[in-house]
Amino acid sequence: MGKNIVLFGAQWGDEGKGKIVDMLVDKADIVVRFQGGHNAGHTLVIDGKKTILRLIPSGILHAHVMCLIGNGVVLSPVDLLSELDELESNGIPVAARLRISDLCPLVLPTHVALDKAREAARGAAAIGTTGRGIGPAYEDKVARRALRFADLFDSSTFADRLKEIMTYHNFLLQQYYKVAPIDFQSVYEALLSFIPRLMPLRADVVSLLQQARRDKCSIIFEGAQGTLLDIDHGTYPYVTSSNTLAGAASAGSGFGARGFDQVLGVVKAYTTRVGAGPFPTELMDDVGQHLATRGNEFGSVTKRPRRCGWLDMAVLRRSIALNGMTSMCVTKLDVLDGLKTVRICTGYRCGDAVLTDSPADIRTLAAVEPVYIDFAGWQESTVGITRFADLPVAAQKYLLALEEAAGIPIDIVSTGSDRKDSIVLKHPFQ
Ligand code: GDP
Ligand code: IMO
Ligand code: MG
Repeated sequence: MGKNIVLFGAQWGDEGKGKIVDMLVDKADIVVRFQGGHNAGHTLVIDGKKTILRLIPSGILHAHVMCLIGNGVVLSPVDLLSELDELESNGIPVAARLRISDLCPLVLPTHVALDKAREAARGAAAIGTTGRGIGPAYEDKVARRALRFADLFDSSTFADRLKEIMTYHNFLLQQYYKVAPIDFQSVYEALLSFIPRLMPLRADVVSLLQQARRDKCSIIFEGAQGTLLDIDHGTYPYVTSSNTLAGAASAGSGFGARGFDQVLGVVKAYTTRVGAGPFPTELMDDVGQHLATRGNEFGSVTKRPRRCGWLDMAVLRRSIALNGMTSMCVTKLDVLDGLKTVRICTGYRCGDAVLTDSPADIRTLAAVEPVYIDFAGWQESTVGITRFADLPVAAQKYLLALEEAAGIPIDIVSTGSDRKDSIVLKHPFQ
């Protein structure tokens, strides 16, 4: 019998989802992306060779895996093809392994221009988006005016529909934001030129997943971004424009909700965030610097430095509840090596109250004072350790405390960026 796992980021993204998906695909048949777009950056390292994926699911390097992009993903054709070309030039036959839902809303160059114009107009209140047009593309989806993947192939209506939506976007760009419009003809011609390469990738992902179920395949539903970036439950408005929670795997792929066996949260052993917004455990000192340097905390897509701080149990508790998380993969433990003291935030003081659960409203979140418990650090290197018993005792204690506070088990501990640098306590597919 196949097993189906939803894997997602439990914090603010960049938890190491790509690495974990890549290491679990040995026992999976299909990897499905169900939300987000090329704002994601998922890094895989195999025998020292690094691959960064943005839209394409993290199973693509493996011949036995079918990769699917579900309807919940917003799709930029030009960025899809550039990612595909990059992988194919490295010998990965992407076109043979990838299928894309006809229902994916398209990200157009005008969405990118609108994203940038909106950020510029926000000034100091900017969200710090990736500037990839993700927000405006989701806006059009919800407003029921989006062009979807299937529309590209309808030669009788495509030009008119593209013209109509670009006229609207260009009106906003010129009249409201006072920036240059985008030329229709060049966008149209570029999209037409992509059609022969995109056509073979079209699929009814819902049927493919139904068939996979009948064939007893094992499926990984790969989340992008992280729980606190969820459009509803994240630190609004400093969020992305999709639902990033595990629950979105069903709507974003068309796989019925009763089909999920396990909900696996990827938890960084500390916390990072890219872009603006509240971050109670953020460190502005040399410990923050240690995490940023050792963890190489620069955005995989935008190369922006990531903000770093201690592990936050109030955030994690919220995340466990919001996602219905059944177990955890704790990543980047090795980045804590060499610190004298390691801290876990157990909750927040907020006036006279103590909160153990992170509040959704950023006005409350901006006023909280984190409460910490301290653990002795460890000076030994944990890089590449593959057995729990080989970890320094202090690192073991840190993980056990995390597990106890979370109330759900740790299945995997990651001790380096390479897929082999992992401690598998319980394989999620067993
Ligand atoms: P994702 O977006 O959740 O897939 O995460 P990213 O790939 O954006 O960021 C995670 C970064 O940490 C990447 O550079 C990974 O190669 C790296 N990484 C993943 N796991 C570990 C780990 O256990 N230790 C270290 N040092 N690096 C890791
Ligand atoms: P992965 O999948 C971390 C953040 C941006 C910004 C906010 C909105 O690699 O974990 P958007 O462009 O989505 O409108 O930006 O969301 N953001 C991410 N942060 N990891 C990501 O993806 C992110 N995708 C978007 O920095 O704060
Ligand atoms: Mg990332």
